[in-house]
Amino acid sequence: RIPGLMPVGDVRIQPTGLVMPKEFVPDIERIKKFEVRPDDVWLISFPKCGTTWSQELIWLLGNNLDYEASKKKLLLTRFPFLEGWSILGDDMKQKKNTDDKWFFQVDTIDYIRDLPSPRYIKTHLPASLLPEQIWTVKPKMVYVTRNPKDAAVSFYHHHRLWHGYSGIFPLFMQAFLEDKVIYCPFWDHVLSYKTLENHENLLINSFEEMKKDMPSVIRKTAKFLGKNLSEDEIAKLVEHLSFKNMKENGSINGEEVLEQIRQRHKLDSSDPELCWIRKGEVDSWKQEMTPDIAKQFDAWTAKKTKGTILEKK
Ligand code: A3P
Repeated sequence: RIPGLMPVGDVRIQPTGLVMPKEFVPDIERIKKFEVRPDDVWLISFPKCGTTWSQELIWLLGNNLDYEASKKKLLLTRFPFLEGWSILGDDMKQKKNTDDKWFFQVDTIDYIRDLPSPRYIKTHLPASLLPEQIWTVKPKMVYVTRNPKDAAVSFYHHHRLWHGYSGIFPLFMQAFLEDKVIYCPFWDHVLSYKTLENHENLLINSFEEMKKDMPSVIRKTAKFLGKNLSEDEIAKLVEHLSFKNMKENGSINGEEVLEQIRQRHKLDSSDPELCWIRKGEVDSWKQEMTPDIAKQFDAWTAKKTKGTILEKK
């Protein structure tokens, strides 16, 4: 086993074969039975596909563009991660230093259960593992996706930072293609939502669309959430959501938590790759993947999407 490759002690959750840490298993039922409210807003993604970016967009749309309020509270608490607590190893959960502002002392499922409405909820779960009430209560859900090469490269750097992954790059890419990394298999995840695209309460956005034409994504998402924005408001929101501003925004960039993680893994704080808002580009995989690895990704994509609505003709 390669140190830092998540999950350690993994299990495959059926029916999708989702790879999760064993610590997640006791919470599957709790999540299945989780009470959903009609005015919840859910943001769902495979990790590293633009989750944080979408969360800030959705939270601001839902909160009358209250930039002041958004800066006062960490995105982690404004828009909590449903299974965030469940996927942590026991070593992290047991950390009991009272001086330490360790957010993951909080059982996120209970934390979200007790939040006042409207709640903003992030999850990386595929459709089959969502709370059962999602399908009857039908809250608004936004799914964001990204091309898997960029997502995998981003996930590699995420593992170096969060889990002190010390293996080489090609090994991580191999593990990703072989569905050995947490939340894999990637294409089943995307497909589990793409097949629901005709559900009125589901909007699907992509990282690439957000990069190419953020005003259109804002208009589309605002309409979906029942909000109407002026052109000035859209321009201000585009600026707020720019890579540079998000990277510098202490309520979003996770630095409060990340500095603890860097110390935990004895990482170099000045390494520009070891941060949450890292590069923010489309096709940055080209700078890191060899042509051979890229070819393997293409063959894997063709195989996994063949005969599905995602198949490229
Ligand atoms: P990179 O590692 O490729 O830079 P998630 O929030 O799902 O974990 O996704 C993280 C990815 O989104 C990172 O990708 C990060 O840099 C990128 N990202 C976050 N905010 C962004 C923004 N405002 N503009 C562009 N990319 C952004």
